[in-house]
Amino acid sequence: MQQPNSEVIGFMANRRSVPAKTMSGPGPDESSIRTMIEIATRVPDHGKIAPWRFQRYSPDYCAKLGELFLQRALELTPDLNEDLQEIERTRFTRTPVVIAVMSAPQDHPKVPEWEQVLSAGAAAMNLLIAANAHGWDAQWLTEWIAFDEKLAEPLGVRSGEKIAGFIYVGTRTMPKTERDRPAIDDIYSTLGD
Ligand SMILES: Cc1cc2nc3c(=O)[nH]c(=O)nc-3n(C[C@H](O)[C@H](O)[C@H](O)COP(=O)(O)O)c2cc1C
Repeated sequence: MQQPNSEVIGFMANRRSVPAKTMSGPGPDESSIRTMIEIATRVPDHGKIAPWRFQRYSPDYCAKLGELFLQRALELTPDLNEDLQEIERTRFTRTPVVIAVMSAPQDHPKVPEWEQVLSAGAAAMNLLIAANAHGWDAQWLTEWIAFDEKLAEPLGVRSGEKIAGFIYVGTRTMPKTERDRPAIDDIYSTLGD
């Protein structure tokens, strides 16, 4: 007999992200981060390839990366004003915890790369949900830094990998607000009824 889990249904029906720029500390400790990562790996994965990987940046390294983001941003846009420079410098220090989810597809005789990329997206979503389920606020962002070739190496991207996203985890400093969602009839239909 089917047993709905109303607590999980309520959590999923109300879950939402919080902008990283409106978060602060505290954040999860290493032991609960490891639990969240274990939960994040519980995703459909055709062929059991594990075509994803998670990488946390230490707080000290986040500060160093901020200087690199700024340096690179100034290379690309030399006349960046001071406010925008500060945004670059503080990208990775907006929250106490920043974890990259890498999409790491492998050549496989039966499993197309597309399916492996989808599994990486599912893993990133599961990490977001796991962080929220532990009581933390979180946001999945890429921003320009995820696509810049010169930043790939300092960000720890390995050959053949792409950044699926950075999961920022912390504590909100303002009340959560709802955002518009698509109307069900715009995104759901049936064929053959
Ligand atoms: C792959 C991916 C990349 C994203 N990158 C950005 C980004 O760079 N900047 C941004 O403002 N939002 C970005 N978002 C959207 C945020 O995650 C946003 O918080 C989210 O859509 C809010 O939805 P939720 O409240 O249902 O979690 C991205 C989302 C995904 C799936």
